[in-house]
Amino acid sequence: MKLGNYEFKYGLSLAPMAGYTDSAMRTLAKRYGAEFSTTEMVSAKAVTFGDAKTFSLAAIREEEGPVAVQIFGSEPDVMAHAAEILLAREPNEGFVRPFAVDINMGCPVNKIFKNGEGSALMRDPELIRKIVLTVRGTSPVPVTVKLRAGIDGENRNAVECAMAAEDGGASLITVHGRTRVEFYSGRADREIIKNVKKSVHIPVIANGDVTSGEEALAMLRETGADGIAVGRGAVGNPFVFAEIRAAIFGESYTPPSLGERIDTALEQLRLSVREKGERVAVVEARKQIAAYFTSFRGASALRASINRAESSEEVKTLLSYFAKANGENS
Ligand SMILES: Cc1cc2nc3c(=O)[nH]c(=O)nc-3n(C[C@H](O)[C@H](O)[C@H](O)COP(=O)(O)O)c2cc1C
Repeated sequence: MKLGNYEFKYGLSLAPMAGYTDSAMRTLAKRYGAEFSTTEMVSAKAVTFGDAKTFSLAAIREEEGPVAVQIFGSEPDVMAHAAEILLAREPNEGFVRPFAVDINMGCPVNKIFKNGEGSALMRDPELIRKIVLTVRGTSPVPVTVKLRAGIDGENRNAVECAMAAEDGGASLITVHGRTRVEFYSGRADREIIKNVKKSVHIPVIANGDVTSGEEALAMLRETGADGIAVGRGAVGNPFVFAEIRAAIFGESYTPPSLGERIDTALEQLRLSVREKGERVAVVEARKQIAAYFTSFRGASALRASINRAESSEEVKTLLSYFAKANGENS
């Protein structure tokens, strides 16, 4: 699958997740086998206002591999202007430009939906076409879109929206097989992803509920998609990309030991501290660090302690006790 200057062999990516897919998570996803990833969503309007926090969400380090920046909004001109600003920024040392601009057409959250943004765009395929067309007009890199199955059970129009996006010049479509009203409940529908794949000529990435190599193969088989995006299954578990990669290539896979989990969790914390500073990083990374340790003796007490930790040192000490209690020397 070719996208801009990149040739992806198996189309495996980290799905965008606000509050999660920061530089640290993207770096580890890449290290374990994700071929590309996407930033957390950023407001197109905030970009055009020059909001500093928004720019920090959109900053990409070279070691993360190719990363798309995801924007949300509803006004074609504002979104195109935002893309232009994000792509024109001269990268500082160690930072790079996004390799694609992804447009959020799936966010179900009320605040966003009420503004006609995120999944609300799926009410109006013509607007989708116009947004993609206008953003393409100012973007020197590929423009991609991320859709849901539709707005609700009566409006499962992902096929129509995907065709509109393709008509506007989109280079790739990711489909999360749930409607807006489903948020994250039930199972993602693979049939609708398959129908999208059959209806467009550009690559389609399947998304929803993939948490293992086996499920990834089933998703690919049942949808015919060109690749897979993994979101929640990668929280506290960047290893899932190595597992999926191995499954796709028919290679054997050894799950990480507790020691590797601890080392990787601490590496994520270290990368996060480098980006955000000790205080903010520890608070923001707690939920992700805790998620590395679900199926071990004493894991729920550990998670509760991590969620109260105030410093990296404290997290390190907690993990070192935990390793000893589980018979690992770390
Ligand atoms: C906490 C959270 C934040 C999310 N933020 C975004 C986002 O910023 N942009 C987006 O397109 N999708 C977002 N999503 C949706 C995911 O990208 C993905 O479509 C969804 O979680 C289903 O995939 P999964 O089952 O692999 O997690 C978010 C999902 C979660 C759980």
